[in-house]
Amino acid sequence: MEEVVVFIVGAGPAGLATAACLNQFSIPYVIVECENCSASLWRNRAYDRLKLHLAKEFCELPHMSYPVDAPTYIPKDQFVKYLDDYIERFNIQPKYLTVVESSTYDVDGNFWSVMARDMASCTVVNYVAKFLVVASGENSATNIPMFPGQQTFPGVTIHSSNYKSGSIYSGRNVLVVGSGNSGMEIAYDLATHGANSSLVIRSPIHVMTKELIRLGMRLLRHLPPKLVDHLLVMMADFVFGDLSKHGITRPKKGPLVLKSETGQSAVIDVGTVGLIKKGTIKVQGGVTKIKGKTIEFQGGNEASFDAIVFATGYKSTANMWLKNGESMLNNDGLPNKEFPNHWKGENGLYCAGLARRGLAGIAIDAKNIANDIKSKIDVMRSI
Ligand SMILES: Cc1cc2nc3c(=O)[nH]c(=O)nc-3n(C[C@H](O)[C@H](O)[C@H](O)COP(=O)(O)OP(=O)(O)OC[C@H]3O[C@@H](n4cnc5c(N)ncnc54)[C@H](O)[C@@H]3O)c2cc1C
Ligand SMILES: *[C@@H]1O[C@H](CO)[C@@H](O)[C@H](O)[C@H]1NC(C)=O
Ligand SMILES: *[C@@H]1O[C@H](CO)[C@@H](O)[C@H](O)[C@H]1NC(C)=O
Repeated sequence: MEEVVVFIVGAGPAGLATAACLNQFSIPYVIVECENCSASLWRNRAYDRLKLHLAKEFCELPHMSYPVDAPTYIPKDQFVKYLDDYIERFNIQPKYLTVVESSTYDVDGNFWSVMARDMASCTVVNYVAKFLVVASGENSATNIPMFPGQQTFPGVTIHSSNYKSGSIYSGRNVLVVGSGNSGMEIAYDLATHGANSSLVIRSPIHVMTKELIRLGMRLLRHLPPKLVDHLLVMMADFVFGDLSKHGITRPKKGPLVLKSETGQSAVIDVGTVGLIKKGTIKVQGGVTKIKGKTIEFQGGNEASFDAIVFATGYKSTANMWLKNGESMLNNDGLPNKEFPNHWKGENGLYCAGLARRGLAGIAIDAKNIANDIKSKIDVMRSI
């Protein structure tokens, strides 16, 4: 059994940021990661052409900026390089291939008891920790809906996290289900690689340009969100024109208000809208039924497909291993309380990166958590 002050579950950006902030206070911690590398989402589960959707000033982790010559929108590989430099700078040493299997609070002893499996040596290690940080991500498991008849589909079905590039789909009929940033970008990637690309858009979305979002986030520092949203929608409508005849409508709430209230991001157009207008990418309503290769859509359309890409998001898996976490997480493994009060539970329990606020939210969480742990340790020392 190993005794530690802080135990961090997950070495994605959130776990690394928390580790760096604790390091600044010289607070000892252990950080474990079930994969064989840090930030596996970025290294192994992201498509080739991915860049950070937000400008770099909104994507920094605490205590380290991007190089001055870095592009405004950082490509995936450069972000991974930044994380590698970050790990080196703060001397973070995650224990890789270590899966947390359970974590319970010991009321009598006042500590968290963590059971982790070391997959390299096939042993179970028990840790005892004063503080426990859940940094296992909102993206730990893929979320794939089940449509009637799906088991009869003879083609390839993959989740967006396994999609790398459209090159292998050239000449094929491919359906992308889901119209968030990943789905919209994958539909574009498929079309530019010569696939016959169709996209399911079921609910209203805010299509924006990355420059508009950057402008909006800057204006937010000076103007009320509703006003900024009003300006953004006006400008986006000017840029894109009326998209309703292409099956794209806007939600009632503005893009920034929606993000802050529900976590739903605006979609940053990478060229998808242009291809939709040209008819290169076909927009379909929700899937109603699958019969072999034939897929039926709301509104009565049907067509034949060779492959389906599910860009239908992710789930948190924290509840699968965290026991006694009710003070902080709901049944979906996401915070009970709304931002900015979501990051702290009872008995030294914290979460980083679970408030659907991207890397900027992660940076805030990590700092809050380290500051709170520091103040608790200072109190314990003074008694
Ligand atoms: C395609 C995509 C693009 C995105 N683009 C942006 C962007 O441009 N800007 C932005 O701000 N945000 C973006 N995000 C959102 C967010 O910033 C990233 O998802 C970010 O990687 C989240 O970091 P995280 O550390 O919270 O989670 P993750 O990166 O998912 O890391 C969690 C880690 O915990 C590990 N883990 C899970 N369970 C266990 C366990 N039981 N034991 C041990 N380890 C465990 C996982 O293996 C994983 O490595 C994007 C997300 C996706 C999916
Ligand atoms: C990590 O695992 C992946 C497969 O999950 C593999 O492709 C890669 O080579 C491994 N990397 C290391 C450093 O072991
Ligand atoms: C492309 O896909 C659409 C379905 O969205 C279909 O109607 C059309 O026939 C397909 N084109 C070809 C050349 O297969």
